[in-house]
Amino acid sequence: MEKTAFEKKYYVERFGTNCVKWDGMKTAYGELDLIPLWVADMDFRCPDSVVEAVQKAVNNGAFGYYETPDSYYDAFIAWEKEHRGYEVKREWLVYTPGVVSGLFAMVNACTEPGDTCLTLNPVYPPFFAAVRESGRKLVTSMMNDDHGAYTVDYADFEKKIVENDVKMYIHCSPHNPVGRVWTREELVTLLEICRKHGVLVVSDEIHQDIIMPGQTQIPTATVGDYSDMLVTMTAPSKTFNLAGCQTSFAIIPSDEIRAKFQKVFGSVHLGNGSSFGAIACEAAYTGGAEWLEGCIETIWNNYCYLRDTLAKELPAAVVSPLQGTYLSWVDLKDVFGSGNTAEYTQKRARLAVNIGDGFYGDGENKSHIRINLATSSDLIVEAVDRLIRVAKEVAAE
Ligand SMILES: Cc1ncc(COP(=O)(O)O)c(C=O)c1O
Repeated sequence: MEKTAFEKKYYVERFGTNCVKWDGMKTAYGELDLIPLWVADMDFRCPDSVVEAVQKAVNNGAFGYYETPDSYYDAFIAWEKEHRGYEVKREWLVYTPGVVSGLFAMVNACTEPGDTCLTLNPVYPPFFAAVRESGRKLVTSMMNDDHGAYTVDYADFEKKIVENDVKMYIHCSPHNPVGRVWTREELVTLLEICRKHGVLVVSDEIHQDIIMPGQTQIPTATVGDYSDMLVTMTAPSKTFNLAGCQTSFAIIPSDEIRAKFQKVFGSVHLGNGSSFGAIACEAAYTGGAEWLEGCIETIWNNYCYLRDTLAKELPAAVVSPLQGTYLSWVDLKDVFGSGNTAEYTQKRARLAVNIGDGFYGDGENKSHIRINLATSSDLIVEAVDRLIRVAKEVAAE
């Protein structure tokens, strides 16, 4: 596969830097000698604007308390307007260290212990944790899976709300792990069901900028006036590979919801985060647009290679169409059977991928893997090759 100019310039060796994706394989998988295609960050250096801005701060050498400037908020607001068509007001924004901490805080702020919260199934596992670990009850609505193309089962979604007196729905847009970019019609249908039953919606849009060619990401908050019942969580971390910088945004138009949310964070005196996070975030939103274009091209190249090669060499593998995120969702049920995926992918193919069961609220379904595409084309080629080789070996045994 041809390398993109972006990959040639930005691919970076991360092993030995205490990064979770490479060095953390020892903790997560018990061994280091695997191709790391799991946790969602990238093997690419951040945009030059970020590196330069952080370097400038480092050169100053004094790392005291930081007063987050207006320009930091302005950079985010301008990005949302230009790239997402969402007009965000400064007073709606609340700093959170991460989107997940924001989700936990929102569950605690806007529901009571014992209340029920709803998610789709499968979905990013910390959604389940935010509900369960906060002493709330989790209910999930299984999506329709049409040979890897996922849609919401609205009848089930509404039934779950009514039967369980659901107070909050946690949405993922684009959807991790199935890679959906939701249409306007889908978003409106979900929101109208929630409105009808008085359900608060928290939309995690952390992957909002990783959108594949031909797709349009519509911020949930822009499909109608849902400001009294909708909160958006997002961040520069997935977009620009800044997850270690711990800087995210909660966008909360409702004064009432925002006050409840701030009370939770205020109760532990959370503050405004680190100076490096704020500096990196501002520099990414002001100078990272071109970098992002190259990054998406590289992810798309990797995805097309994976999809096309598996279609040819391993047609029993079902690759979900990638509309957004850099995470490819692949069903290997007809390749390795149910329950063997972890064994074959790690022990035989030597891949560190996320195994599907974690993405299901009930822990069932061990036949999927989630592959992180934000790495070099060489590693994707090697990983696909290994998967095909092991599948052929297993079929012949
Ligand atoms: C949907 C989704 N939300 C949140 C996160 C993590 O957010 P943070 O690191 O800001 O807590 C991820 C990371 O993979 C994610 O995929």
